[in-house]
Amino acid sequence: MLRSHVLPFVADVFWEDENMATATTTFRWTEKYSVNVDFIDKQHQRLFETINELNEALAHGEGATVVERVLQKLVDYVVGHFSAEEALLAKYKYPAVASHQAEHEKFTKAIAKFLEDHRAGKSGVPVSLIMFLQTWLKEHILKNDKAYVEFLTSRGVR
Ligand SMILES: [Fe+2]
Ligand SMILES: [Fe+2]
Repeated sequence: MLRSHVLPFVADVFWEDENMATATTTFRWTEKYSVNVDFIDKQHQRLFETINELNEALAHGEGATVVERVLQKLVDYVVGHFSAEEALLAKYKYPAVASHQAEHEKFTKAIAKFLEDHRAGKSGVPVSLIMFLQTWLKEHILKNDKAYVEFLTSRGVR
């Protein structure tokens, strides 16, 4: 069921052909996402990779167990990343730390809802979730995370 419903949709949206290499070029971390802080960039790269992993699990029609495991891994990793990023911003007394935290919080709540729906047996959740994650991650890094780059760089953080 998962394969027949999800695969054509995922393929249409994220694959130009059936070559898996295409998938990794459509959603991958590039320099434009860099926030000039090495460990944050590495965490963002891991997030991109985990989203791709979820995408591939779906494209291969892997069962609910795999999807659930990757979803959970993604959620755990996102939460860990948020804490690390917020701790760094707090350490340097970044003025917009509270609103940045609020953005993370909104995201965490949205993800929890997706996971809840998925566990309740709602269909199509992983695909909606992937689309949400891809959009959110790109926009959050490019707008909110990029906003702290100058502040941190001017304080010698790398
Ligand atoms: Fe952030
Ligand atoms: Fe971030």
